[in-house]
This record gives sequence, structure tokens and C-alpha cells, in this order.
Amino acid sequence: MNSRSIIEVHNLTKIYHIGKKSRDLRYTIGNIITSKNKSYEKLLALDDISFNVNEGEVFGIIGPNGSGKSTLLKILSRITYPTSGRAILRGRISSLLEVGTGFHHELTGRENIFLNGSILGMSKKEIKSKFDEIVDFSGIEKFIDTAVKHYSSGMYVRLAFSVAAHLEPEILLVDEVLSVGDMNFRKKSMGKMNEVASSGRTVVLVSHNLGIINNLCQNGIYLHNGRIIKSGLINSVVEAYQNSYKPDISLSISKKSKYIEVKEIKILSQTGGGSNIISCGDNVKIDIEFNTLVKIKNLLVKIIVRDHNKQTIFSCNNKFYDSIFKEVPKQGTIRCQIPKLPLNTGEYSIDLFFEENRKEIFKVSEAVRFEVFAGSYYSTSIMPYHDRIFLVDHKWSIE
Ligand SMILES: Nc1ncnc2c1ncn2[C@@H]1O[C@H](COP(=O)(O)OP(=O)(O)OP(=O)(O)O)[C@@H](O)[C@H]1O
Ligand SMILES: [Mg+2]
Repeated sequence: MNSRSIIEVHNLTKIYHIGKKSRDLRYTIGNIITSKNKSYEKLLALDDISFNVNEGEVFGIIGPNGSGKSTLLKILSRITYPTSGRAILRGRISSLLEVGTGFHHELTGRENIFLNGSILGMSKKEIKSKFDEIVDFSGIEKFIDTAVKHYSSGMYVRLAFSVAAHLEPEILLVDEVLSVGDMNFRKKSMGKMNEVASSGRTVVLVSHNLGIINNLCQNGIYLHNGRIIKSGLINSVVEAYQNSYKPDISLSISKKSKYIEVKEIKILSQTGGGSNIISCGDNVKIDIEFNTLVKIKNLLVKIIVRDHNKQTIFSCNNKFYDSIFKEVPKQGTIRCQIPKLPLNTGEYSIDLFFEENRKEIFKVSEAVRFEVFAGSYYSTSIMPYHDRIFLVDHKWSIE
């Protein structure tokens, strides 16, 4: 209880003024003619939020797209200012926000390391003493004298993270960057953040990867529409977020037919995170726990995956693989495995159907919902584009 607050956020509100979107051409032309085109819409990105971060802890910020996480980090790192309220930070800050901030494009990796160090108030000698470690960690020594504008986004993030983490800031602010690197680099960065925290410094981390958040953070907040829905111990914060994705349609209403009872449907990924929260490209298991109420033979199981508009995206059916379950135990778990989930980020739901000898014996729509978060589908540092619906594994060659 005697740990010191190194960050204090008091009633922070951020309003963006955005140009009103024209609804159609007539509206736009009408506006031009009547010169009413200077109308603005107010967007409340942060709505009166307050919290404290203790010195030496890793503090997690989670929440859906557009909930205000990046806006909050930008205010903490003084890139943007709040409309009202204030944030007090008692220490030297280094931040790793989205790719593109912090580095000077025309300068080389080497020059950027020195530039960032001097911004943090370090002497040339201090930076020199850290230089080899930074380059070594980033794994891009071959390109250290190349201008960073020629770097791939993966190389860029590797160096930026390495600089931010090694230059001994007292407060390290990190936005989502861990989802960019490959598995190895992600592991290394997680280790580094732990190390930064255990040496008494403070880390504030924004991520969609709840597994990482759960592993690294002690406390945190869950934001939704710019408000804090839950704050406190990270387990309870992550749990609150996960619970918000539980299906609205309770499975218990229609989980039972005359033939079979479905007790639970779990969607699990092998890469951590909780049930029903997975990343693009994860190996996914759908587990359906059941009890039969009568003797069932030749069970066909069909799963339909729909997007948030209820559009059918794909279906899985044991018939496709000629593996209709001839024998069905009195109770058990039906498992459907999907290697390398080809879905992009978004919210999805599942309809579940059972048939016995072509007769429908159980059916439930939106039996369960799940959220797909950003992930390294291509197993490289390149992330999928957000606006692609489907991801497809592929190879390239040239002869
Ligand atoms: N510079 C800006 N001008 C106008 N609106 C903005 C600006 N930056 C963010 N917003 C809006 O503020 C809200 C919060 O955005 P923010 O980027 O903080 O969300 P986020 O939680 O980081 O989302 P994501 O998970 O997608 O990164 C969104 O509605 C966004 O469109
Ligand atoms: Mg963001």
C-alpha cells in the first residue's frame, strides 16, 4: 500500500472536433452552396477518466477498437493535450506509440538511437554505453547505418522497441507494438518489459492480446467508449472484458432438445488469452460439451460461423470429412479443430446443428460469440490489413 503513484490521472476528458461526414452528394453540394460546410461533430474520445499507476508496476490498458486507449497514451506522452482534466507523470518518459512516431525517417538507425537518447536527456557517453545492447537486442545490426525510411515495419518496430526499452526511461509507454514482431521478438520484448518493471521502472502497456496483458501486468483498466468500465487487479479487468463478449442469447434457453443437451461451447486458442478471445491465425479448438438424452447414432455436427452482420462466413461439418460420429457416448466433448484461423479481426458468432440420420435433432443460432484480435497470421512481422475479410495462407516464387 505504500507504493508511490508515479502516474496520476484526474478527470481526463478529450474531445476531438471532426468535420461532419457528408451523407451524400446532394448534402455536400447543398453545404457548399449554402457555405455550411464548416460544421463539426464532437467526438468524446475520453470521458472523465481517473486512475493511478504505481511506481514499478506494469499497467495494462485494454478495450475494443476506438475505446480511447491510444488517445490516453498520447496524452500521457504529451503528444496531444486533454480537453479537461490532467495527467501528472513523475519521471522521464519514453514512449513507443504507433509506427512513425519517435524516429526521424531520413536518419539512420544509429543516428536515431543517439537522437532518442538525447531527447531523454542522456549524455553521449551514457547512450554509447547502451548502444551495443540496443543494436544487439533489435537484431538489425546489418542495417544500423541505413536510413530508417528503408526499414520494413518489422525492423522499424524492433529498433524502436529496443531503443525505448534500453534508454532507461522511468516510465515506458507502449502501444500495441508487441503484436507486430514475430514470435521470437514478442517473447524477447515481453521479457524486456518485465525486466524494466522489475528494475523499479514503470510500464504502461496497451494491447489487444489479453494473454500478454494477463502475463505481464499487475493492474489495469478496461476502457469502453472513453470510459473506464473496470479498474484494478488485471485478472478482474481482463475478466470483465471477456464477460462483455459472452453471448446475449443465453445458451440455457435453448440448449436442450428431446435428444441432446449442450452444456457448454468453448472456443479456445493455443496461444493463450481466454476462452472466446482469439487472434488471427491461431490454431483454434471448438469444444462442445454434451449429454445425450436418448441413444444417438450417426451424429452429424454442423457449425456455421457468421460475422457481426450475421452473414455466413464458413461452415464446418463432420460430413465433409466422412467422419459422422457413428457411436455417441452418453456424455462427452465434441471437438472441432481449425488450424490457422483465416478470419481477420472482428466479432463472430456460431450456429450449431446436430442431425441424426438426416433428421435435425438440435439447433441453436448464435450459440456463442467470439472476438478475433490482431495476430501475426503470416508468421512474419507483417500484420494483416484491417479491411480484408479473409486471410489466406499462400506462398510466392519466381522462376
Ligand atoms: N486525431 C483524431 N481526430 C479525430 N478523432 C480521433 C483522433 N484520434 C482518435 N480519434 C477518435 O477517438 C476515438 C478513440 O480512438 P483511439 O485511437 O484512442 O482508440 P483505441 O482504443 O486506441 O482503438 P484501437 O484499438 O483501434 O487502436 C475513436 O473514435 C477515434 O476515431
Ligand atoms: Mg489504438
